[in-house]
Amino acid sequence: MTFRVLDPDPYLGHYAGEELEIGGQTFLFHPLRVWMDLADRLDCHMRVPERDGPFLKITFQKKETRQRDRTLSSNTEKYGAQSEFQRIHKLEEPYFLLDAIQALRSLDLPAEARILDLGVNSGEELRLLDLAYPGNHFEVLGLDHSESALNIARGRFPQHRFQVADINALPEDLGTFDLILSIGTLQSANIEVEPVFRRLLKHIKLGGHWLLAFPNSRYSGGEISYGARMVNYREPELSLLFKDVAFFRRYFQKHRYSVNVTGKYYILVTARSLSRV
Ligand SMILES: C[S@@+](CC[C@H](N)C(=O)[O-])C[C@H]1O[C@@H](n2cnc3c(N)ncnc32)[C@H](O)[C@@H]1O
Repeated sequence: MTFRVLDPDPYLGHYAGEELEIGGQTFLFHPLRVWMDLADRLDCHMRVPERDGPFLKITFQKKETRQRDRTLSSNTEKYGAQSEFQRIHKLEEPYFLLDAIQALRSLDLPAEARILDLGVNSGEELRLLDLAYPGNHFEVLGLDHSESALNIARGRFPQHRFQVADINALPEDLGTFDLILSIGTLQSANIEVEPVFRRLLKHIKLGGHWLLAFPNSRYSGGEISYGARMVNYREPELSLLFKDVAFFRRYFQKHRYSVNVTGKYYILVTARSLSRV
């Protein structure tokens, strides 16, 4: 589908839908983002627009419909080394990258912090620690049930420890941590989130912090698409996401943490302990 819209560049600063009189004709202004959002909402790619006088020619290209991956999240290799998931690099998404770095910095972690990462996969998210705290010497323990993903992580971060474990049955001898981090994992259908969280409480140090991220997006046709989806829903439906975020936010607020909820494609719940060590 191709259509022509007013080139927004000469009129930046207007709002979407504002009327503009140009050469005796009325046009509506829209920033480019509006067309990108529309493409996303219609499950299309937006091709690079072509200039056409005072207009832009915009082409939407339907994304190839692919079979939904019906592998159960309890399958330990669903996100393994051979899975499609390894093609995804979330640190290339500006909202995720900048919000996660800001969240980590807000925790003011001690120089030799012990960090537990649940669902660490291939470890890519551990680069956030280097970006937020350059030159740090954190001691990271990454857990995941995918042996093959952990092997990639071991190659990337030989200084850290990675252990195969089921988050529903955490090893008793994990020790205690200054930060418990979990990105895109606790919402998995196979994880009993509330019992797991209660068990984790004995592994957080007094004064230790939490950073939990929940997807508000899905990946389709090479792109991140806004909005959490529930099983059998085509359109975004955020009820389960809100339930998880509300559960953690309420818990942390009741237990002497200062809580921030940030993010767009991933909702980040950052809980900074107010307890003095
Ligand atoms: C969607 S991926 C997110 C991975 C990574 N944190 C990221 O954001 O790129 C979820 C991860 O949790 C792991 N996982 C899911 N259920 C698990 C369980 N019960 N025990 C351990 N790991 C689990 C998966 O193997 C996968 O690596």
